[in-house]
Amino acid sequence: MSQPRPVSDLELAGRRVFVRADLNVPLRDGRVADDTRIRASLETLAFARERGARVLLASHLGRPKGRRDEAFSLRPVAAAMGLELATDCVGDEVEARVAKLADGEVLLLENLRFHAGEEANDPAFVAALARLCDVYVNDAFGTAHRAHASTEGLARACPERAAGFLLMREIDALTRVRDVSERPFVCVLGGAKVSDKLAVLESLSKKADVVAIGGAMAYTFLLARGEPVGRSLVEPDLVETARRLLDSPAHLLLPTDHVVAAGLDEAAGADIVETIPDDRMALDIGPRSVQQIADVLRSAGTVFWNGPLGLFEKPPFDAGTMAVAHALADSDAYSVVGGGDSLAAAQASGVAERFSHLSTGGGASLEFVEGRSLPGLEALGA
Ligand code: 3PG
Repeated sequence: MSQPRPVSDLELAGRRVFVRADLNVPLRDGRVADDTRIRASLETLAFARERGARVLLASHLGRPKGRRDEAFSLRPVAAAMGLELATDCVGDEVEARVAKLADGEVLLLENLRFHAGEEANDPAFVAALARLCDVYVNDAFGTAHRAHASTEGLARACPERAAGFLLMREIDALTRVRDVSERPFVCVLGGAKVSDKLAVLESLSKKADVVAIGGAMAYTFLLARGEPVGRSLVEPDLVETARRLLDSPAHLLLPTDHVVAAGLDEAAGADIVETIPDDRMALDIGPRSVQQIADVLRSAGTVFWNGPLGLFEKPPFDAGTMAVAHALADSDAYSVVGGGDSLAAAQASGVAERFSHLSTGGGASLEFVEGRSLPGLEALGA
């Protein structure tokens, strides 16, 4: 894969520049609940404005299934960014508004996924988007694994294309992980389900030195090893797969103690145990397991972390995830944290700025690290 052309190489003054960002942010009560992705998009936006571009900023939000649905409007994003929101992302009205844009001005287009042509990568929808712009800039790393009209079709249809600063940073950081720039290579994988992480587990278990597993998905592995898991969440269909992965070249580090409770809302009765009782479920890794992970992180050269290690939204089940975040911040390794929940956990830990890179991509960062080619990057010539 070659490097895409950076946006800084393009002549932007007076030109209509389509900037595809990933502004797919969580909302709460009609407001942006976490603005990490918005902040990550600002550098390219500021650069294009300074260079005198007439910017059309575009994104999807959620999964409105190809229909206009006000619950998925980018209005809260426009408010958070102080930008004017167009009534739609294609059509006569938008074209007329674009024609009036002044140099350095920005118009935020309405949710691309209000049109079925976006996810279908429909040539007619690509052509409608192409009518709006002279230059295409992709800064939407989080959506680079989707072959959609705004991430793939338009990149090919536009006479000039380039990568934004965020996209370039993501490619640099995740390439260091994918190509294992320095060993030992330690992966910390968490989250609820083995099934969500199967592809990355298969790939990383071949090239990592240690894969530390936490979160509910650890219990499918413990079951595969014949250990008691009580009422913890498990995926019985994946026990065989977990058994096979336990034999992989990487050392799979599983929790040896657990924070257990009678249920998700039974925090008051939480205990730390080594053997999970039949009537309890494990909701976090225990202090000894944290110590084991901290020990391997101390001497790691490269670390990739995806997925929380417990039910981190509900104290006290956040303790394991927070302690591992601190251990990672203290390590000298090149550290990359990827994925929506991991990002939220990293931010909650208060040490996020001490990691080498926080990826804005969930699925996209996993697919990149697995070594798959991402359609949004391919279309840029990357
Ligand atoms: C994400 O949040 O991972 C990206 O914005 C892609 O969203 P999608 O999974 O709905 O395509």
